Amino acid sequence: MEPWMDKALSADERARLLIAELSLDEMISLVHGPMPALLETPPEDTAMGAGYIPGVPRLRIPALNETDASLGIANPRKVREGDGATGLPSGLALASTWDAELAYRAGAMVGSEARDKGFNVLLGGGVNLTREPRCGRNFEYLGEDPLLAGTLAGEAIRGAQSNNIVCTIKHFALNDQETCRHVVNAEIDEGALRESDLLAFQIAIEKGDPGSVMCAYNRVNGEWAGENDFLLNQVLKRDWGYRGWVMSDWGAVHSTAKAALAGLDQESGEQLDRQVYFGALLKDAVEQGEVPFERLTDMVHRILRSLIDKGVFDHPAERRETDYDANAKVAQAAAEAGIVMLKNADGLLPIDSANRRIAVIGAHADVGVLSGGGSSQVIAHGGDGLEIPVTMGLSSAFSQVTYHPSAPLAGIRERALNVQVTYDPGTDRKAAAAAAAEADLAIVFADQWCTEAEDLPTLSLPNDQDALIAAVAAANPKTVVVLETGTPVLMPWLDEVGAVLQAWYPGTRGGEAIARILFGEVSPSGRLPISFPRDVADLVRPEIPGMVFGPPVEGKTLPTSFPDVQQHKGRFSVPHPEGADVGYRWFAKTGRPTLFPFGFGLSYTRFEHGTPKAEGGETLTVSFDVTNAGAMAGTDTPQVYAFVNGADGKESQRLVGWARVALEPGETRRVSVTADPRLLANYDATLPGWRVAEGEIAVAIGASAEALGPRVSVALAGKTLRP
Ligand code: BGC
Repeated sequence: MEPWMDKALSADERARLLIAELSLDEMISLVHGPMPALLETPPEDTAMGAGYIPGVPRLRIPALNETDASLGIANPRKVREGDGATGLPSGLALASTWDAELAYRAGAMVGSEARDKGFNVLLGGGVNLTREPRCGRNFEYLGEDPLLAGTLAGEAIRGAQSNNIVCTIKHFALNDQETCRHVVNAEIDEGALRESDLLAFQIAIEKGDPGSVMCAYNRVNGEWAGENDFLLNQVLKRDWGYRGWVMSDWGAVHSTAKAALAGLDQESGEQLDRQVYFGALLKDAVEQGEVPFERLTDMVHRILRSLIDKGVFDHPAERRETDYDANAKVAQAAAEAGIVMLKNADGLLPIDSANRRIAVIGAHADVGVLSGGGSSQVIAHGGDGLEIPVTMGLSSAFSQVTYHPSAPLAGIRERALNVQVTYDPGTDRKAAAAAAAEADLAIVFADQWCTEAEDLPTLSLPNDQDALIAAVAAANPKTVVVLETGTPVLMPWLDEVGAVLQAWYPGTRGGEAIARILFGEVSPSGRLPISFPRDVADLVRPEIPGMVFGPPVEGKTLPTSFPDVQQHKGRFSVPHPEGADVGYRWFAKTGRPTLFPFGFGLSYTRFEHGTPKAEGGETLTVSFDVTNAGAMAGTDTPQVYAFVNGADGKESQRLVGWARVALEPGETRRVSVTADPRLLANYDATLPGWRVAEGEIAVAIGASAEALGPRVSVALAGKTLRP
């Protein structure tokens, strides 16, 4: 046995032994690689995912076979013909579950499919906070709160890596808009950054220990994320003691020595960069002494160490049959727990047997459920959904509007026994209204397609669906709206309809999940992980910076893969005046009401929260009773918010924890939430570290960020914590 295969040695020791055997060329070969699909002759051992780094067979260093996997094993351009996968509901749906254990199971399921298909690196773990509700990739991420997003991302990563593969976390950091993502510069104060987006990454890294971190495309405070000494060397590697490797995003490298010295360890998807920066150019820089040999050693050490530490060496991925039935159950459980009921006037839902005629309308509900576009696109296993070509915009390069083959209509018909269920496509408002008028109940599906590489020009439902819903509701007040959207939408018809379900993109078992909720086989338990604004005028940035250059218009020809770089050489900056007060914190601070607040979600039963008992001191612990006061079993997610004086001296509302409690009717359970002290602190860059002020703060239990119980005051001991 080669000495580095000795499992009794530490991963660091094994990596060192291996590096001693490597030539300079072999070391260089490990720090850059192509997109295999763009190669004329893809290597034999590629699994044809988004990325490939050749191995060193003589030393048994495996090739890195990397696949996108935000919501399942992606296959965006169908380079692996006929290779389907299990599609999870979107990240916002998963975040709506507030369920760490489910996030772990979801991650573990995706990780197992990755192994089955021969992949050993999963490009998942998207944890960028939602600062822009119109961002085209919100559906891949986990919402606007650092604790919620960080906790769930960490668990999903831990689950994925339980399969002896590496999972990434991405996109480090502040890739909060897709518009001009290759050129935009996000400007933010260090303390605010540490308390928000970086805290989400920090929590997720602590919980999930991902083998790799993927940098973002954009610049942060003037430097590209992939050559940002502050982000990579100072925060990630020094302050957080991160021992894995930093890979670039695809087409995000801009230099050789600068990037290597700033902490980038590997260039991914190298054909998308202007030149291959970490190949011959890096070798040259090392030979010239511009990049010390020790730095190259460190780059390679980090890669090999993670591969060994996560089990890639000792348990190489081998193709296996996938148990799609078992995996579908995980996707369905996540969809059922992630659907959020936003309105249910007069107990319209669940659907009862008094309804003899049901009109189902719109959004291809007869075929399937919508999914989001871009590199994360999953092609569903087993079945033809619906694919509508995209003819304009950057996303046309890699996306079709894809409906997974899980038809809500079929799920409804299966349950509506002896009921006449009709379907109308919703393309003709009059016909849809007529169908609704003839029915006892109308269920109108509406959707909004989002995709990587583009932001939405508005938060309104596209294709006149607002008018469709209004027409249906006018014809029949017993109208249920089911939304399949990638991000929040405005609801001008809200007062006219009876019920609203936010089903997000519900994944490859979404139709079944929606039907089960509609018919009360499951009580809705999802809670919004993101605020729904009343109006874009209430947002931090009413207009998306850079949108002035877009959105893409039919007929406008777009040049090669990354046109925004070419079009906007004059880069621009986006100030972030909201600082750490993202989402609900911003709405609370500015006193602007939302349409639906962060944390909100209804149930078929009713919950009560007892008087909280709060203990202070070193940190904060809040205990209280949760009771199911209704007639049906259900799951409640009471939230604990603290009100801390922010760095600007103003009150900042922060989620410090939550409990997720499944209760039978009449059952009461006592729960207890202890705050991570960083959520009670402000980050002081001069310290440097976290500073919890001595003195009184207020806490409250909330059914949402706005529906808060009485404030209780508690005294904290002052203290400081390292970064
Ligand atoms: C995306 C990444 C993805 C990569 C590889 C990039 O465009 O930003 O999230 O992992 O492509 O497909």
